[in-house]
Amino acid sequence: MHILITGGAGFIGSHVVRHFLKSYPTYTITNLDNLTYAGNLANLKDVDALPNYRFVKGDITDGVFLQRLFQESHFDGVIHLAAESHVDRSISNPTEFVVTNVLGTVTLLNAAKACWQSDLEGKRFYHISTDEVYGSLGREGLFTEQTAYDPHSPYSASKASSDHFVRAYHDTYNLPVVISNCSNNYGSFQFPEKLIPLFINNIVHNKPLPVYGKGENIRDWLWVVDHAQAIDVIYHQGSNGETYNIGGHNEWSNIDLIRLLCRIMDTKLGRAAGVSEKLVTYVTDRAGHDLRYAIDSSKLQRELGWVPSISFEKGLELTVDWYLTNAEWLDNVTSGGYQHYYEEMYGGR
Ligand code: NAD
Ligand code: TYD
Repeated sequence: MHILITGGAGFIGSHVVRHFLKSYPTYTITNLDNLTYAGNLANLKDVDALPNYRFVKGDITDGVFLQRLFQESHFDGVIHLAAESHVDRSISNPTEFVVTNVLGTVTLLNAAKACWQSDLEGKRFYHISTDEVYGSLGREGLFTEQTAYDPHSPYSASKASSDHFVRAYHDTYNLPVVISNCSNNYGSFQFPEKLIPLFINNIVHNKPLPVYGKGENIRDWLWVVDHAQAIDVIYHQGSNGETYNIGGHNEWSNIDLIRLLCRIMDTKLGRAAGVSEKLVTYVTDRAGHDLRYAIDSSKLQRELGWVPSISFEKGLELTVDWYLTNAEWLDNVTSGGYQHYYEEMYGGR
């Protein structure tokens, strides 16, 4: 079994690569990543010497390169995570999100279709998506697989579009696809532009914690290791053409989450109770800020038997511990040091 994982140097992708390498030593895993600001090979330092691992630096929007890679490699499956993933960046530069998330996905679909069309048996194209495609909930209700798409940010609009293309390739060309839409992930190796690692880093350095609006927005948080496990289950047991929602039934308003994080940080840093919370600073709300995301993952639980493994309190504490013991990783990422290394190594290729 040879699986192509795209975006494997990013946050979730690196956990998926690690999970597959460790769980399936007989599989070959090729990690295709363009190493944007969010891609960091240090995320895979503990597994990159394994004999069944291969890294390829390349761009999912480059069709000629992808066709060659598919022809040479005889992939049985694709797990597609490569994307621009940060909502705030999508507000500043929406076009980049269209290029990577929409055009990149279609280019990858074309490569898989061209290579596999003569024999689709045993093949699988697994597209990793987000619950943000469903838009925003009021105080009640959950996103199910039947919820109509209603994206509001350029990020979620680009992911919604890519999901539609993946389904269209199933319906039009019989490409064996599966899609999952997951809620907010947290854990080790997350780039410190997203809420949890950004705030951990700012608390360590006594910098303000910029809470958008009133901090009342609600997100449904899932430990990234549990997401990787769900991806394994869906890759192996999901049905072609199906969508699975992934989430931990774990809703937190931003301000409640931040208060919990501040309490954990005070304890870990030996600070008096309440010190970190004083860093909270309310700032102008994000444009088009979705109020609430919450996932109904009962289909995945019922049909494929997946359940999250740990509580949020435990997962958050493990995450804080990881960032505190990996200060060098965080410093390297915030200083951009790892990108200078890539420029030297790959010379802009
Ligand atoms: P990330 O930004 O940490 O990583 C994205 C990776 O894709 C990086 O390694 C980057 O170098 C690579 N990449 C970007 N453009 C590329 C290109 N043109 N060619 C090749 N590689 C490219 O993202 P993440 O948070 O790990 O998210 C991974 C996937 O999961 C995304 O598709 C995202 O939409 C989805 N998702 C994320 C979350 C979340 O909470 N982070 C939740 C649900 C779904
Ligand atoms: P984020 O981690 O960017 O994920 P997403 O926007 O994909 O849900 O943000 C999580 C929540 O935290 C979201 O409601 C926006 C909010 N937020 C802040 O209040 N301040 C910040 O500095 C960031 C990055 C996010």
